[in-house]
Amino acid sequence: MNTLNHILKLLAEKRGFDFSGYRRPMLERRTQKRMFKTNCGKPAEYLEYLQNNTEELDELIDAFTINVSNFFRNPLVFEYLERIVLHTIINSITLKKDELLRIWSAGCSRGEEAYSIAMAVNEFLKKEKTALDTIIFATDIDKKALSKGRSGVYDKQSLYNLKLGMAESYFKEESGKYIIDDELKKTVKFSFFNLLDINHIFPPESIYGSFDMVFCRNVLIYFERESQGVIFDKLYKSLKINGFLILGEAELPPTELKGKFRRESKCCKIYKKIA
Ligand SMILES: C[S@@+](CC[C@H](N)C(=O)[O-])C[C@H]1O[C@@H](n2cnc3c(N)ncnc32)[C@H](O)[C@@H]1O
Repeated sequence: MNTLNHILKLLAEKRGFDFSGYRRPMLERRTQKRMFKTNCGKPAEYLEYLQNNTEELDELIDAFTINVSNFFRNPLVFEYLERIVLHTIINSITLKKDELLRIWSAGCSRGEEAYSIAMAVNEFLKKEKTALDTIIFATDIDKKALSKGRSGVYDKQSLYNLKLGMAESYFKEESGKYIIDDELKKTVKFSFFNLLDINHIFPPESIYGSFDMVFCRNVLIYFERESQGVIFDKLYKSLKINGFLILGEAELPPTELKGKFRRESKCCKIYKKIA
């Protein structure tokens, strides 16, 4: 077994995280960065360091889970959402008298994506002079990121894609920090959920899945094909028929799901579940 496998085994034993389905080159690069930070010249030296310094296990998990994000990341996606997707969904919900809009942000990091969705939905409903209860389940495996999301406190840098007036409408500024509005916060429910969990298809907090939209952006790129397949299967099963799957710029549904999803937009990775 090479040293990276020993490291992954240690993370699984000590922290319960199984990174074996993640892309090896990414794991190797991130491990090398931590080796450099901890002045370990050789992988075996770093493994020994990890065995004797348990706080480094958390640093390595942080390095592997990469939670870069910002509000309205890839603004075109949110533009398309407000102009097209929400119209389609809201028409079908109103027709069915089914009055709850259910959304899942899978791999939500610190909540920037989930709160951006909440803002986009709110802006849309305001414009349409319509009321509709909305619930957004925001899940991740990074507990620190989840607690940051629950706190709803952000730095100015993460807000640079916000449209004019949105910072004032949805945040309160205190000593240079931006705090999410309480009403908006109530629509987002954060919880721990491992997308590779073999026992659950969707977050148990959502009780029955059946989402109108599932966002899983910039998460699948970190996984090997087989694990991507496991995740796509969950995303597919969690969506309502005619629900929307929103992926990151570099992500595509696997060929096995061809015929189940139809791409809806030329500019963004937005798919409709059609079968
Ligand atoms: C780059 S962030 C993407 C954040 C957001 N979706 C966006 O596009 O801005 C990737 C997130 O995926 C999460 N992640 C990695 N492996 C995961 C897993 N097995 N289950 C759930 N989330 C995972 C990481 O913790 C991280 O917060």
